[in-house]
Amino acid sequence: MNALTILPVPAFSTLCNAAFTLRREVFVWEQKVPEEEEHDGDDLTATHFVAIAQGEVVGTLRLIKRPEHTKIGRVAVRGSFRGQGIARSMIEAAMLQARAAGEQRFYLTAQSDKLGFYEKLGFVAFGPEFMDGGMPHRAMRDYDKDSAVLID
Ligand SMILES: CC(C)(COP(=O)(O)OP(=O)(O)OC[C@H]1O[C@@H](n2cnc3c(N)ncnc32)[C@H](O)[C@@H]1OP(=O)(O)O)[C@@H](O)C(=O)NCCC(=O)NCCS
Repeated sequence: MNALTILPVPAFSTLCNAAFTLRREVFVWEQKVPEEEEHDGDDLTATHFVAIAQGEVVGTLRLIKRPEHTKIGRVAVRGSFRGQGIARSMIEAAMLQARAAGEQRFYLTAQSDKLGFYEKLGFVAFGPEFMDGGMPHRAMRDYDKDSAVLID
């Protein structure tokens, strides 16, 4: 794999803006998420992470701190850099940093065809399938796993 640097970056910094460009590339252009849904108010308060390889931002995600858990979202890796463990490394690095700050419970909403990816990182799906950004999703969490029940 290429040498990889993973960093938390301030919102609207140069690196964060490169991450926002990557998010548009992946979610708006590739996955056809409506542009007006891609950015939201959580971008102002989230902790944004970037993955840098070969001098460019090739991956990003954000953490949103909520009272009940920390939400992982907007996980994206540039198409030509996929399949090299970059998303796994980003999620593990972000969770490690959040754990060091006292967070123990992580939550996310996964596109339904990505459940296997997050299961490898210790998440379980629960509840009903729902639509978001025009795609079916499931909620997932890495805590209270025994009581996680899928609703169909
Ligand atoms: C999903 C995405 C972030 C994965 O990024 P990536 O860097 O290619 O993923 P990794 O290489 O870290 O994969 C880690 C593991 O998950 C597996 N995996 C990757 N994508 C998967 C998928 N769609 N379904 C099931 N498993 C998957 C990999 O095979 C790998 O398994 P291994 O550890 O046993 O080898 C990337 O494909 C992407 O940006 N997709 C478009 C945006 C998107 O869908 N984001 C997620 C929204 S919920």
